[in-house]
Amino acid sequence: MMKSIKLNNGVEMPLLGYGVFQVKPNEAERCVLDAIKTGYRLIDTAQAYFNEEGVGEAIAKCGVDRSELFITTKVWVSNSGEKKAYDSILESLRKLKTDYIDLLLIHQPFGDYYGTYRAMEQALKEGRVRAIGVSNFRPDRWIDLVKHVDVKPSVIQLQTNVFSQQQEMRKLIEDTDTKLMAWAPMAEGQNNFFVHPLMTAIGKKYGKSAAQVGLRFLTQQDIIAIPKSTHVERMQQNLESMDFNLSSVDIDEIKKLNQTDGGNINFTDPQFVNYILTAFG
Ligand SMILES: NC(=O)c1ccc[n+]([C@@H]2O[C@H](COP(=O)([O-])OP(=O)(O)OC[C@H]3O[C@@H](n4cnc5c(N)ncnc54)[C@H](OP(=O)(O)O)[C@@H]3O)[C@@H](O)[C@H]2O)c1
Repeated sequence: MMKSIKLNNGVEMPLLGYGVFQVKPNEAERCVLDAIKTGYRLIDTAQAYFNEEGVGEAIAKCGVDRSELFITTKVWVSNSGEKKAYDSILESLRKLKTDYIDLLLIHQPFGDYYGTYRAMEQALKEGRVRAIGVSNFRPDRWIDLVKHVDVKPSVIQLQTNVFSQQQEMRKLIEDTDTKLMAWAPMAEGQNNFFVHPLMTAIGKKYGKSAAQVGLRFLTQQDIIAIPKSTHVERMQQNLESMDFNLSSVDIDEIKKLNQTDGGNINFTDPQFVNYILTAFG
């Protein structure tokens, strides 16, 4: 049984899941079927990944009851605004071949995201969505958003891994009992993540890999993690990060690896904002 965490609206969410960013549309069905067969129940996709249809095919074919799955998707910037966002939620539901989305996030803090949030609150009321939240909000926009919305976000998804531990945001989200969900939980392999000397050494004590240590470092602190791999043996390895516990001494050692607390993207860089506004349609 996958360990789960209770969100601020009472919904239970698996602590470890499977992410499909950069999984090609024609590979998504196979990958998600493999992931579900391996034991994953939480699947993280997004409108901007262009693979919701493949995920939907897998949901339809996997043979696991829909109530046991936990599907996350995200509204892209080009669908921001109340009406557009609402229509895009219906479109995501069609593509995902499901009556409801377990967790719906605003993907990026740009465009009319207040309108998007109202559409998400509406979808929540209608039972089309079970929980709502945001992604990539930095402290300034987070504080402003939380002050101006009725339903407090259940989840915030941020770049979070041993090198970017989000200590500042973790304090800020305590007020609303919002849970942190880690994207790039393995730092996308950067900084020698998979062969990192400290995590490799710690892993040896438990018979675990650096990847498993880095993932358990997150989930053991109640941070939801969604590692991505197209390879079944890696899916399995990443899932098996859940079957051991790091000592508090080891956790404290890994905490020292924090370098770029809030992640390595500068969300106020005009070039980055322009990129987000034009990329992915
Ligand atoms: N909200 C956002 O803006 C945002 C941004 C980025 C990502 N995300 C979400 O977060 C998920 C995870 O993040 P991510 O995909 O960027 O990065 P990640 O999970 O940290 O790393 C994925 C990379 O690690 C490799 N890998 C996976 N397991 C491995 C293992 N055990 N040993 C060695 N290599 C391994 C994968 O290669 P192979 O596939 O070739 O195995 C892939 O290149 C995404 O899929 C997506 O759902 C969200």
